[in-house]
Amino acid sequence: MQIETPVVIVTGASRGIGRAIAAEFGRAGYHCVIAARDAAELDSLADELATAGAPRALVVAGDLRDPAQPQRVVEAALAAFGRLDAVVNNAGATKRGDFMALADDDFIDGFALKFHGAVRMCRAAWAPLKESRGCIVNIVGIGAHTPVAEFTIGGPVNSALINFSKALADRGRGEGVRVNTLCPGHIATDRLTKRIEVFAREQGLSYDEAEAAMRAKQGLTRYGKPEEIAKAVRFLCSAEAGYINGTNLDVDGGATPGI
Ligand SMILES: NC(=O)c1ccc[n+]([C@@H]2O[C@H](COP(=O)([O-])OP(=O)(O)OC[C@H]3O[C@@H](n4cnc5c(N)ncnc54)[C@H](OP(=O)(O)O)[C@@H]3O)[C@@H](O)[C@H]2O)c1
Repeated sequence: MQIETPVVIVTGASRGIGRAIAAEFGRAGYHCVIAARDAAELDSLADELATAGAPRALVVAGDLRDPAQPQRVVEAALAAFGRLDAVVNNAGATKRGDFMALADDDFIDGFALKFHGAVRMCRAAWAPLKESRGCIVNIVGIGAHTPVAEFTIGGPVNSALINFSKALADRGRGEGVRVNTLCPGHIATDRLTKRIEVFAREQGLSYDEAEAAMRAKQGLTRYGKPEEIAKAVRFLCSAEAGYINGTNLDVDGGATPGI
């Protein structure tokens, strides 16, 4: 039975899905180490967590494309709390659009954060996770297994991250660390709002018309909520999921057409 307060690192916690994940872990009694670039947003999340009665939150602001940043985040977590139980690699920002309009730098940047940032975080966190018999959840995206023309960066980044996570789970089964991935479908965050705004401009529609048209095209009655992703992530990190390792969980309202 675990008696110490567990500790989780959540990247991309300043807004959207990552913020909801941190809030969920805070409610569940974790110390949350919250990482992203926007220190003010992270501070406001730490205040929210404190107000909600969660254990201590630690803000570690910085750019996770910087090769040294994941190690800094892990060191800060260990210095503050002396242990680490879970890591959720959620930070991601890949450009979408016409392939012919995307440059090498866009591809390099997409991989720098969501793939290399997560890989470095897994490496930095591995030893303390091995000690706590902890777990990693890498937030990926349904573009990993349903390639679409306008997502030529995010799709490959996501596929690569699933492949890497599965390989790490293979190592983890011998070392007591579980590694899983979760693919959100279409989730209502700022990222989705921006996509709807672009679609509205392109099609000459109002925001509401564009939202309805996009959803109809995607065959959805509604978009997912960040909280619905957060609850699934926390389940993957819980004792109830103790034999789930090397698995991908789609939380997409059924949007993925394949099997
Ligand atoms: N929303 C969806 O429908 C959807 C669908 C599939 C997959 N996903 C995946 O889910 C994850 C979260 O998506 P979201 O919609 O919540 O995105 P979002 O609202 O754009 O938030 C992205 C988060 O990543 C952080 N971030 C961006 N660049 C960073 C950098 N260089 N260094 C450190 N942190 C950085 C951002 O914080 P700062 O700007 O403060 O750094 C923010 O906290 C992403 O990996 C995304 O690919 C989302």
